[in-house]
Amino acid sequence: MSSPAPRTVITFGTFDVFHVGHLKVIERAAALGDRLVVGVSADELNLRKKGREPVFSQGERLAIVAALKPVDEVFVEESLELKRHYIQQYAADVLVMGDDWAGKFDEFGDICEVVYLARTPAISTTALIEKISGGS
Ligand code: CTP
Repeated sequence: MSSPAPRTVITFGTFDVFHVGHLKVIERAAALGDRLVVGVSADELNLRKKGREPVFSQGERLAIVAALKPVDEVFVEESLELKRHYIQQYAADVLVMGDDWAGKFDEFGDICEVVYLARTPAISTTALIEKISGGS
């Protein structure tokens, strides 16, 4: 008898100034399947999406995420419009997003399971940058 196909999970993010909220979402995403693929947003996409350059370049952010034990594969997410393409390209069975995106990706329910995970409270890259640069 053949064994069941491995379950692939895909998630996306900038993962700039890597923090424990990032680690937790990656660990919890990995726990939902057998193989975790992470799309790390391109510098250009981050600039458009968040209105600032990331602190760490896409090459650095990619290297950090790729080095994590629960991560099997990484790629650069070039455009928010390509989610369906990436889900299909990596044959993902599950799409995981933070619940700041709750409901926004339900349209992909026709090709994979869509799971929103609660964000880790009280930490974000934006807050860290403000704190480190001398803000509150
Ligand atoms: N995330 C999380 N808990 C946090 C911060 C982020 O679970 N406290 C998750 C997001 O929901 C997303 C992934 O980590 O699934 C990458 O988020 P990203 O936008 O890169 O990190 P933020 O810290 O939210 O960055 P920013 O402050 O720039 O929005």
